[in-house]
Amino acid sequence: MERTFLMVKPDGVQRSLVGEVVSRFEKKGFTLAGAKVLAISKDLAETHYGEHKERPFFGELVDFITSGPVFAMVWEGENVIDEARKMMGKTNPQEAQPGTIRGDFGVQVSMNIIHGSDSQDSAKREIELFFGADELVTYEKTV
Ligand code: CMP
Repeated sequence: MERTFLMVKPDGVQRSLVGEVVSRFEKKGFTLAGAKVLAISKDLAETHYGEHKERPFFGELVDFITSGPVFAMVWEGENVIDEARKMMGKTNPQEAQPGTIRGDFGVQVSMNIIHGSDSQDSAKREIELFFGADELVTYEKTV
């Protein structure tokens, strides 16, 4: 079954949106395989966002993601990578549709509430970066 990495960013944690975000993915029917609150180190931030290293906003991005705790999650389900991105909405909250997480709660592109893997390769890389195998579980829903 496909897995993706999702993370409520410091703005989402500060604004008490963790429960709202988790609830949306639960209600959609996806399965939570792992979750934790953590403070991201500068090293981890630079590795996680390595593909943006040459972008002018890289410094701001690293500063922001390390500015406070985040809530990291692994979700499982059919086509969950693309479905989660639909539920998150466009990167820039001002372009994101109402009904999406960023469209409903985000204000600006640097503080856009949530990060989600954009491909199978990035999902695998990001899950391994943030979680040990012993922090993830696989289970069938029985109720
Ligand atoms: P995310 O999905 O976490 O992946 C990279 C992040 O870079 C993105 O969400 C945005 O929060 C951030 N980002 C993209 N464009 C800009 C920008 N022009 N200025 C600041 N941050 C940006």
